[in-house]
Amino acid sequence: MEYHDRLPCGHLTLSDTGKEVTLAGWVDALRDHGEVLFIHLRDRSGIVQVVFTPESTPQTICARAGLLKSEFCILLSGKVVKRLEGTENPGIPTGDIEVVAKDLTILSRASTLPFQISEKSMVAGATGKRDEAVDEELRLQYRYLDLRRPRMQDHLIKRHRIVKAVRDYLDEQGFVEIETPMLTKSTPEGARDYLVPSRHYPKNFYALPQSPQLFKQLLMVGGMERYFQIVRCFRDEDLRPNRQPEFTQLDLEASFINEEFIYSLLEELSARMFEIGGIKLPRPYPRMTWMDAMNSAGSDKPDLRFGMTFKDTTDIFTDTNYGIFKQILSRGGCIKGMNVKGQSERLSKNVLQNEYAKEIVPGFGAKGMTWMRVMDGGLESNIVQFFSDHERHEILSRFEARNGDVILMIADPSWSLVCSALGQLRLHIAERLGLIPADAFYPLWVTDFPLFEATENGVTSSHHPFTMPDRTDFDPENIDELLSLRSRAYDLVVNGEELGGGSIRINDRNIQNRIFKALGLSDSDVEEKFGFFLKALEYGAPPHGGIALGIDRVVAMILGTSSIREVIAFPKNRSAFCPLTQAPSPVAMEQLAELSLLDLGGAQPFRGSKEEQDLIDSLSWVSRIRIDAKEQPAVTAAVEDAKAYADLMNNRAKEDEPMFSVITVANHTRKGIESHVNRLAEKGELFKNAPSTKGGYLKVASILE
Ligand code: AMO
Repeated sequence: MEYHDRLPCGHLTLSDTGKEVTLAGWVDALRDHGEVLFIHLRDRSGIVQVVFTPESTPQTICARAGLLKSEFCILLSGKVVKRLEGTENPGIPTGDIEVVAKDLTILSRASTLPFQISEKSMVAGATGKRDEAVDEELRLQYRYLDLRRPRMQDHLIKRHRIVKAVRDYLDEQGFVEIETPMLTKSTPEGARDYLVPSRHYPKNFYALPQSPQLFKQLLMVGGMERYFQIVRCFRDEDLRPNRQPEFTQLDLEASFINEEFIYSLLEELSARMFEIGGIKLPRPYPRMTWMDAMNSAGSDKPDLRFGMTFKDTTDIFTDTNYGIFKQILSRGGCIKGMNVKGQSERLSKNVLQNEYAKEIVPGFGAKGMTWMRVMDGGLESNIVQFFSDHERHEILSRFEARNGDVILMIADPSWSLVCSALGQLRLHIAERLGLIPADAFYPLWVTDFPLFEATENGVTSSHHPFTMPDRTDFDPENIDELLSLRSRAYDLVVNGEELGGGSIRINDRNIQNRIFKALGLSDSDVEEKFGFFLKALEYGAPPHGGIALGIDRVVAMILGTSSIREVIAFPKNRSAFCPLTQAPSPVAMEQLAELSLLDLGGAQPFRGSKEEQDLIDSLSWVSRIRIDAKEQPAVTAAVEDAKAYADLMNNRAKEDEPMFSVITVANHTRKGIESHVNRLAEKGELFKNAPSTKGGYLKVASILE
């Protein structure tokens, strides 16, 4: 038996009947019928049944086969035969044939498995034995075993094909794949950096790239014209199912282009990527401004798979007598709502009032929700009696309401709160009532984002600071004007998920400088962080723009997996930890010393660090207590006293015998609080306010992972 004669298990068909074949792979499953042993042999291509029988298999080989266990790695040879009628297994593509073993080598044994890998039943007609409930932490710890599952292999193979389609298409379009540094300077993409200490430059750090943003722009200044890269990016941010601390982008940039170039390039590209999963995206992709997206779906990534878009009803209530609306409108607020068509049977008064208005919607940040059910051509709710005939009539016509519809409205002095709360409610209801069609794909370009967002003391970039504004004559010190600017940025959204984002960039040093100024960066900050980049803009930087797609997200969407971890070979878990390698993990002192990291906050403080500046500053930072200038002298004196006392005790400790306490150690600073059972618990009423119960269990709001 030679490896080079080996055939893929999953490719054998009836036409191979009579052939002598060599196969290698893993024992997926076994069925021992006394004298006769059946196994499912699995390699990457699929599964084939192998039979060891005393009539056709040498006795020594039968004896060896008796040692086999699940996931042993074996090499065997045998003859392909047609299965007896009635014994075919339609559950596997090779189910019409089997291989009668002639020889067998056990290449490698396997210990008892931490979970079952086999997904295919050996018995025709029986359902697969796949154990869906394997704990993800265990799967990640033994990822090499998890990866043996055909489903996981399929994910990685499809991912490869999708990425290959990207490379092929961009190559056709004249894009060149270029690598950019991983050990670099921080690029602002809104997350924290992962830092890498430098041994050669003690107490100096590289940052792992949050994206190759600055380098790809420098490649444009460098005349490369069309660049792309399948690139790993690193962001230390709060994790969600669609986020990983390290993830992969398809990053691209092109010179002498405008938004239309990116739209058509990306439509073709993404359509080709989705086609690999058999999904045809409807084209052309519609476009929606950020403002329209917020106004109609309360999100900058609207899910277009279902309706329930918002109508503004502020104008209907300008002269209202309904106190709450009146008061909100007098404060410049707005009222928006949506029609949940034909769902009044499923949204009872009780559910609307006690679950939605009292519990769910306040959880989305709104103070309350107004609900109306449409019955007998009119409106029914706990507040419609406060509305005038005109208002009721206008509501019915604005929402094109029919009997059986449910109208939900949110009013608030803040427009953005109304949009965001109603947006979350829209998604919640669509999911809860199952209004989202399966297997539907709705791509969308979202455009005209605000360039800046307000912060406590100024503005921050909505995307990143290299995005071209819609106009360049702005005053960097006029906050209102800055907040009115739109950016030449665009996001590619599919089914309510942001798959990619990009923009046309600033290629003029003066504009870029004014953006930094608007962001409140001092000249020295700008010089230190971006000096190299601004300099490049002085040397004939061409107009350029680009985009980055989150490859993990795109692949997960195409394959319909529940999280991007399913399409990454070795992902981190939900806490940014790797259960397989146990990273991050402590390192040896010597390694820290070598990197000059032992003196953190000690004798040799970091350059520019708080510790270096001031001991009191550093204490206040560490203890999270703000010490203002007035308190400084007293705190400094107290710290000096404490230090002197510590020194004294230190010296005493050297001279005196150690002291022992003869009384029981107790907490003398505060009287202990006696434990007591909550009054409500005693009466069994602890959860009396729980929204609802089902089958004796309390129903709680579903949470994202
Ligand atoms: P942005 O920050 O929007 O843009 O990122 C682009 C895309 O990358 C994906 N993504 C992530 N995927 C998984 N885990 C994460 N933590 C994560 N963060 C982002 C998303 C997102 O749409 N330099 C710009 C692009 C440009 O302007 O050309 C950038 O990185 O799918």
